[in-house]
Amino acid sequence: MKICCLGAGYVGGPTMAMIAEKCKDIAVTVVDIDEVKINAWNSSTLPIYEPGLQEVVDECRGENLFFSTDVKTALNQADIIFISVGTPTKSHGIGEGSAADLVYVEACARLIAETCVTNKIIVEKSTVPVRTASLLRSIFEGCGKGDLFDILSNPEFLAEGTAIPDLRNPDRVLIGNEETKSGKAASEKLVSVYANWVPRDKIITTNVWSSELSKLTANAFLAQRISSINSISALCEATGADVDEVANAIGTDSRIGPKFLQSSIGFGGSCFQKDILNLVYLCKHYGLLEVAEYWNQVIKMNRYQRNRIVKRLIHNMFNTLTNRRIAIFGFAFKKDTDDTRESAAIYIANELILEGAEIAIYDPKVPANEILKLTDEKAIVCESAKQAADGAHAILVLTEWDEFKLYDYKELYDSMVKPAFIIDGRNILDLSKLKEIGFDASGIGKTV
Ligand code: NAD
Ligand code: UGA
Repeated sequence: MKICCLGAGYVGGPTMAMIAEKCKDIAVTVVDIDEVKINAWNSSTLPIYEPGLQEVVDECRGENLFFSTDVKTALNQADIIFISVGTPTKSHGIGEGSAADLVYVEACARLIAETCVTNKIIVEKSTVPVRTASLLRSIFEGCGKGDLFDILSNPEFLAEGTAIPDLRNPDRVLIGNEETKSGKAASEKLVSVYANWVPRDKIITTNVWSSELSKLTANAFLAQRISSINSISALCEATGADVDEVANAIGTDSRIGPKFLQSSIGFGGSCFQKDILNLVYLCKHYGLLEVAEYWNQVIKMNRYQRNRIVKRLIHNMFNTLTNRRIAIFGFAFKKDTDDTRESAAIYIANELILEGAEIAIYDPKVPANEILKLTDEKAIVCESAKQAADGAHAILVLTEWDEFKLYDYKELYDSMVKPAFIIDGRNILDLSKLKEIGFDASGIGKTV
């Protein structure tokens, strides 16, 4: 069997590497229109940082895993074609700022229809609005090739930073098929690929619309939990309750569960916001205005949370940031990734720059040029946390990198302007120890 994946990004690369690792008899080719990215996949410096990925790629690349820009050859040879391209929020036209832009998915469908002359299974791996399969179907039929292709939905649930363990041991694999005889057979073929390492009872098969909608729903539920605990963090600060204690107390209820209750500066990442905006757009499209407004609140609460930390810092700094140096620890949207897409740190840094602050940023993995681009070249990029804190009035911890827990905060404190503030936007530090050192220390959802 041969597999081709269109899109060598954060999803296409790791998911295909895992299929190659687990299915030695399948040749997997990942293609992309971005030659620089493909060259990086073929080099010793992969285009994305993901723990454990390098080892999987090293084991399989050149054996049954290939990265190429020769899209047409890979499409022609494949039995199964995954579409794993971006589905960003539309930036113009109808649905601007809310609907998913399917321009890349559509381009893939047209390319497949133009290029392929034998039967293929087309798999939506990208996160797409419910009923996207009908769009693909109409493109294939419009090209007179409807009979050649079966369309499956197989959304990806990996999280960045833990992509490899998530793929190796997924909670479930979801496959939706069109309700035809060949659609069912296509689903069975894809099930047989995953069954090489995923227990059969963890492979869920549904109709194609349920599968598409389940992906948006899963992300909406996950993000909703974060907005819920973040809303409570504001109430904790007002009342003297401690959000970590509340999260622990409610999380022990097996109906609620302990995961995804970490209060923070707000969720980032390329998907939560875009997928909820897309869900909101879909609800409005189907006239379900109350449902749309319900989910929109999750986004509103996230923006509120990001704003709160900015306001608190300005308040702490006696209402002016002019000529103050603020050290920012962490710029990635979460630990163990170099990805900054929709990172709350981008918003917070730029707000502080607007207030006149000098912003010194240190992140262990995000490249300096990325930080400069995202702050309009106005931030100072530092090579260590020590360098960022040197001469600073305040430290903001914006990503939960493990190394931030290991620092000698006394040494950092000594190099700062007094009174020295620290706001732990991830609740990973021991505030009482920081206070003992002399810091004016606060966290999220702790009494300020
Ligand atoms: P990405 O931007 O990292 O990668 C997409 C890649 O597709 C890019 O390299 C781009 O050059 C390539 N591409 C665009 N058009 C192409 C074409 N016609 N042919 C070949 N390649 C093409 O995006 P990503 O983070 O991998 O996300 C992809 C999809 O997966 C999105 O729909 C996203 O919502 C979903 N998803 C992402 C994650 C995640 O953690 N990043 C997790 C689950 C699902
Ligand atoms: C998320 C989902 O967890 C994946 O299942 C999904 O496949 C993916 O989106 C996607 O569709 O792209 P990801 O965004 O990579 O994965 O990372 P998460 O671990 O979900 O974190 C998202 C954001 O929420 C981060 O900024 C993180 O710091 C924040 N977060 C997470 C919290 O603030 N509190 C928590 O308790 C958990």
